[in-house]
Amino acid sequence: MQVHTHPSDDALATAAAGLISDRLAQAEGDRANLALAGGSTPIPTYRALRQLPVDWSITDVWLSDERWVPHDSDESNGRMAEETLIRHVTGATFHRPIYSPNVEPDESAAYYEAALRRVISDGRPDVVLLGMGTDGHTASLFPGSSALVEPTQRWFVENHVDSMGAWRLTATPHLLWQARAIIVIVAGEEKADVLAEVVQRPSGRYPIELLHDAEGDVLFLTDRSAASRLSNTQ
Ligand code: 6PG
Repeated sequence: MQVHTHPSDDALATAAAGLISDRLAQAEGDRANLALAGGSTPIPTYRALRQLPVDWSITDVWLSDERWVPHDSDESNGRMAEETLIRHVTGATFHRPIYSPNVEPDESAAYYEAALRRVISDGRPDVVLLGMGTDGHTASLFPGSSALVEPTQRWFVENHVDSMGAWRLTATPHLLWQARAIIVIVAGEEKADVLAEVVQRPSGRYPIELLHDAEGDVLFLTDRSAASRLSNTQ
């Protein structure tokens, strides 16, 4: 678990986009796959990424989590990804979970997982982007939520977030643990205390600590504010 700190939002976005592009170029086989994080932190990175020479025609893009909202909702991670990246590049195959009043969250999660199992044929995602909440959640793996302790080999599940009174769809720890590379983008002073505990004094308190058990590379890319409580930042 490495931490790389950058002096500005632009530098963080540029570094994250370059790392994503490099990791995708390293993908073996005839296609690559990339999971996008939701929320607001990654937006500058997605804007920087669309300027880079990624071969989107061989790239499957999916979401590490999604809110249970209509595709055109302001809350939709898929809509954010479309607006900041997907519609600005050519050839990417973008996989979004089904949302319909006639479909239950668990059905949608199962359909999505089936699609991912066709795309990630060797079971190992190439690049997974994640964020971190101030409560230490990542994807939609929130403290005390059932998906955080999903007992099966499921890759993607529905998850009710009681604190929000809302359903989410999320990659499971099992899927995240298999990723070749996980890039966590964290910015802002409000996340500094949690980040320092997660990276340097893991106690099992925060969901994102599950990344300590990941098989692949885990890289935290931060701004100076988020890294301000870390000792000896790289
Ligand atoms: C979501 C995200 C979530 C996000 C964190 C950080 O659906 O909200 O996937 O895990 O990465 O909540 O969000 P910000 O980047 O907006 O702080």
